Amino acid sequence: MAPGGAADSRPDPGIRGLAATPELALTGATGFIGAALLAQLTAAGWRVRALHRPRSGRTPPRLPGVEWLPGDLDDPAALNALVAGTAAVIHCAGAVRGARPADFDRVNTDGAGRIARAAAGLRPMPRFLLISSLAARVPELSHYAASKWRGECVVKAASPTMRWTILRPPAVFGPGDRELLPLFRCLARGFAPLLTGTPGRFSLIYVDDLATAALRWLEADTGYGQTFELDDGRPGGYDWETVLSVAGRVLREGRRVRRVPVPLPLLGLAARANLAAARLLGYAPMLTPGKLREITHPDWLCDSHAFAHATGWRPAFGLEAGLARAYRPQRAR
Ligand SMILES: NC(=O)c1ccc[n+]([C@@H]2O[C@H](COP(=O)([O-])OP(=O)(O)OC[C@H]3O[C@@H](n4cnc5c(N)ncnc54)[C@H](OP(=O)(O)O)[C@@H]3O)[C@@H](O)[C@H]2O)c1
Repeated sequence: MAPGGAADSRPDPGIRGLAATPELALTGATGFIGAALLAQLTAAGWRVRALHRPRSGRTPPRLPGVEWLPGDLDDPAALNALVAGTAAVIHCAGAVRGARPADFDRVNTDGAGRIARAAAGLRPMPRFLLISSLAARVPELSHYAASKWRGECVVKAASPTMRWTILRPPAVFGPGDRELLPLFRCLARGFAPLLTGTPGRFSLIYVDDLATAALRWLEADTGYGQTFELDDGRPGGYDWETVLSVAGRVLREGRRVRRVPVPLPLLGLAARANLAAARLLGYAPMLTPGKLREITHPDWLCDSHAFAHATGWRPAFGLEAGLARAYRPQRAR
């Protein structure tokens, strides 16, 4: 059901490709998860207006049904133009790396607040989906986690009448991912550099399943005012032994993946050195003391029962199917 109780907001497939008001505003479409979202949304017939940060040497791909709008989350005018006339906003842009708290806050908190307020100022008001993170469950862990949690708070506070929904995915994997790719490359080569003494369990989700969750939310037109955790549907999630044995089967044709223990103090040292270098040289680091606290947190388990119940969504990929789909073809090349 479309906003305001109107008829189905999805376009008639017959009008696909015609110039018309975009129905959906999307941020983060040039990133890992946003690109998967964009692909699924357009394949399902949604007309999308997507924000992109102009950069020299990079032109966003020309895709049917997609209107690219240059701009930054810092820029309220660009955000007003992005959301104008849309029936729904999916806010997926985020800062996942940073050297200082402000690197995360500027995007994950201030940017989320800005786009939520831009949407809240419209009549009719578009519904709003925020791609947050399971990390927001434990904001004290890292600047990233805190910024995502505050981002949720500012979205909720944007308007008492906005139909918002928050999705909290756990670690997401799939084609285009840069965070887990180095680990999967090691697994494909037969070794797993893993921290000693971190026996925790964790959930995972394949990127296309996260994208179908957003699509299902749009179609189901429900779940407003709620925060949902998502996973791939595997009860009890994963431990590293399971990941290594799945990786051996899928990426190494059954050959073993050896665990290479990495002592926590050593990685702690590397994280501190990397953070100092990033602050000095001005790059966005992945390994930082905050990221290490996230990695060593013992409980990243979640489940998607509430979201599945509300919307009828079901994940299609477990780790084995997702790894095969994402990484097997790369090995063959
Ligand atoms: N990857 C995961 O495992 C994971 C897990 C849980 C939650 N999430 C959340 O999912 C979202 C997407 O993550 P991702 O892994 O796809 O990250 P990503 O590949 O780094 O993509 C981030 C996207 O956000 C855009 N962006 C960043 N700062 C922006 C700004 N100031 N203005 C406009 N756009 C900006 C980037 O644009 P450029 O291309 O111009 O840089 C890019 O399109 C994030 O909110 C993240 O917190 C990710």
